[in-house]
Amino acid sequence: MSLTLAARTRHMTSSAIREILKLTERPGVLSLAGGLPSPDSFPLDALAHASERVWRTQGAQAMQYANSEGLMPLREWIAQRVSLPQWTVRPEQVLVTTGSQQGLDLLGKVLLDPGCKLLVEQPTYLGALQAFSPYEPAFQAWRADEQGPDPLDLARMSGAYGASGQVGSDAIRAAYLVPSFQNPTGHAIGAPRRAEIAAELNAHHVTLIEDNPYGELWFDEPPPAPIAASAPHHTVYLGSLSKVLAPGLRIGYVVTPPDEAPGALDLRARLLQAKQASDLHTPGFNQRLVLQLLSDGFDLDAHVATVRQRYKAQRDAMAQALNHHLPDDCAWQVPQGGMFFWVQGPEGFDAGASLPAAVERGVAYVPGAAFYVEAPQQARRQMRLSFVTLSVEQIHEAVKRLAAHLGGEGRRAC
Ligand SMILES: Cc1ncc(COP(=O)(O)O)c(C=O)c1O
Repeated sequence: MSLTLAARTRHMTSSAIREILKLTERPGVLSLAGGLPSPDSFPLDALAHASERVWRTQGAQAMQYANSEGLMPLREWIAQRVSLPQWTVRPEQVLVTTGSQQGLDLLGKVLLDPGCKLLVEQPTYLGALQAFSPYEPAFQAWRADEQGPDPLDLARMSGAYGASGQVGSDAIRAAYLVPSFQNPTGHAIGAPRRAEIAAELNAHHVTLIEDNPYGELWFDEPPPAPIAASAPHHTVYLGSLSKVLAPGLRIGYVVTPPDEAPGALDLRARLLQAKQASDLHTPGFNQRLVLQLLSDGFDLDAHVATVRQRYKAQRDAMAQALNHHLPDDCAWQVPQGGMFFWVQGPEGFDAGASLPAAVERGVAYVPGAAFYVEAPQQARRQMRLSFVTLSVEQIHEAVKRLAAHLGGEGRRAC
């Protein structure tokens, strides 16, 4: 008997980041590679207390199967937290998922056919490419300028101006973006560009998957409202508690369009079926733990404010270290939130090929090419640096090592 794997497995990729994380477990390596929130930011005491109460007061329910949509009180809380004066989200629109990563997979399952066009930013979140790839879409690079993804590309790719003149004949199935403090670039799309994108979604009935795990991690001012707020009928919005509370809870959510949006009820029903096939439900204990934490009076907003403060100090430290140590022919922008710097190394630098040598020097990063569907030449020079897992002192040392690796240590400093 021989074992034959499904053809779709050829489209499955392992996350370059996870492979790199293995390398960085070596003692002495200062890793700028991970995408992990700072463990110091987890409210462990409050979680321990809430956890004990869940066991004591609702242990059996927490250990029982739960419904697939998620616990209603949690859906209500999420709906309220996401809603804005201009965007009312109802609990029925919320599907609790096992991390927003599961939301991406479920959306891939219900929205994508082999060969259908999916518009993605370049570079984009690697885990989204990983989630969508087994469904074999034809990824299309979303053209961008300094403001972010080009809204006219949506119109162009919507089939509205197709060669045949037939709307929909060659249309993209959906578009995917991370609007605020993107992974990997740290870029946030401004309000005018969001409005333009929303206008094109509304005009051409394109579906947007808006993935927003970092929106609350702003440093100086909050990012503009999600695009979903201006195009609710055409946007499927994903959020997560991973970056504001703890990723180990695996609590994410999908907000589907309101009932009256064409196809919304069908999308919701299919997502639910996909979720049932995938894991039946997100662990009830974890959902109850979050609800208990909140009913114990845990102030999530105050907590997130402390996370922001911590990350901002680390962001500032990295900005200073990069400025001080990196060669002049490197380039980056200081992110206004989130967890990452996106750095372009000097001419001729190959971030992927030279990573093992960097690890030998005791520093690690994620090579930029990993975040592209088809990496352009300049991607070889790019890398993603996380600033949230190391202390301020370690950040300085890590960037010093990186500068030595790039061959430019001290050039800026002198
Ligand atoms: C842009 C983006 N989307 C989704 C996720 C998945 O987050 P989670 O599944 O923990 O909610 C991540 C994690 O790093 C991310 O960066």
